[in-house]
Amino acid sequence: MSSKKILAVMGATGAQGGGLVRALAADPGGEFVARAVTRNPASDKARALAALGVEVVAGDADDPASLERAFAGAHGAFCVTNFWEHFDGPRETRQAAAMARAGRKAGLEHVVWSTLEDTRLRVPLGDGRLPTLKEHYKVPHFDAKGEADAIFAAEGAPTTCLLTAFYWDNFIHFGMGPRKGEDGTLTLALPLGGAKLPGIAAADIGACALGVFRRGAGAAGKRYGIAGGVLSGEEMAAKMGAALGQAVRFFDMPFDVYRGLGFPGADDLGSMFEYQALFQDEFVRSRDLALTRDLNPGIRTFEAWARENAAGIPIA
Ligand SMILES: NC(=O)c1ccc[n+]([C@@H]2O[C@H](COP(=O)([O-])OP(=O)(O)OC[C@H]3O[C@@H](n4cnc5c(N)ncnc54)[C@H](OP(=O)(O)O)[C@@H]3O)[C@@H](O)[C@H]2O)c1
Repeated sequence: MSSKKILAVMGATGAQGGGLVRALAADPGGEFVARAVTRNPASDKARALAALGVEVVAGDADDPASLERAFAGAHGAFCVTNFWEHFDGPRETRQAAAMARAGRKAGLEHVVWSTLEDTRLRVPLGDGRLPTLKEHYKVPHFDAKGEADAIFAAEGAPTTCLLTAFYWDNFIHFGMGPRKGEDGTLTLALPLGGAKLPGIAAADIGACALGVFRRGAGAAGKRYGIAGGVLSGEEMAAKMGAALGQAVRFFDMPFDVYRGLGFPGADDLGSMFEYQALFQDEFVRSRDLALTRDLNPGIRTFEAWARENAAGIPIA
């Protein structure tokens, strides 16, 4: 039997957890080995992990007992929730709480919880600077995760909160890519309010998490914010244009216009960007580029991400 320490990886078939599984596979001599947790071990993505030699087990964040089984015998766990599958803040917090409690019951020594700010700590529900959404939130997909930080601290195993950043991959998968105008020019439109945006290649988050596990028990109780770069809209447009081989201009869309775009989650995302602009210094300071590079020396810059992904950026 392997003497390696097992890391149970939630979201192993997705971007963040998948990055951790790949980082572990790329380090066969290291102290850790992945155990991929998925709701469906028979899915194509889960089978692809198994084909790589990764242990794949069943576990569902909506089913706490299944998490206890999935975490049993592991050293640690990477915990991530997927708000965008259900758009339900209380459910996301319940899922995170279930992971936290299962981690403690399983006796895990170290958990890395992928989180975001609870914006209500800076903009309480009665504060009109941001609209209140779904009765309880300002930025639901941030707040629901941030709310779970205290649950990990109080009821979980020793936990490091990993504060993530905007995925540059949103320009590919989240409908945020550049659009072609009638005159053929490309425009990248985001509501940034003149602020710089900390961002990261989604695939790099997992290797940062591995860096946290390597730091060991000393990292528990800490909060690490990560980003691969902090760029203005104009800088992202210019570098994206260089990668695409055609000019991209930036349009700083008003927050209310973005919130009103009508796609599911537009209000949530519009307020996310407005929060980042309102608290720009703190938001940027919370994500430490030097720490990120220390955790993951292979971290991509925006330029490197854009070069690698130019062919995949859809132009609408
Ligand atoms: N887009 C951004 O810019 C950005 C930035 C920072 C943070 N985030 C956050 O990242 C999260 C999504 O992470 P991702 O991008 O890595 O996800 P993803 O690529 O969309 O994949 C979702 C993963 O979650 C797993 N999952 C979903 N529901 C589950 C459940 N009930 N039990 C167990 N596993 C479950 C899925 O596993 P199976 O289907 O195999 O079970 C899958 O591996 C979101 O909450 C989002 O708010 C996004």
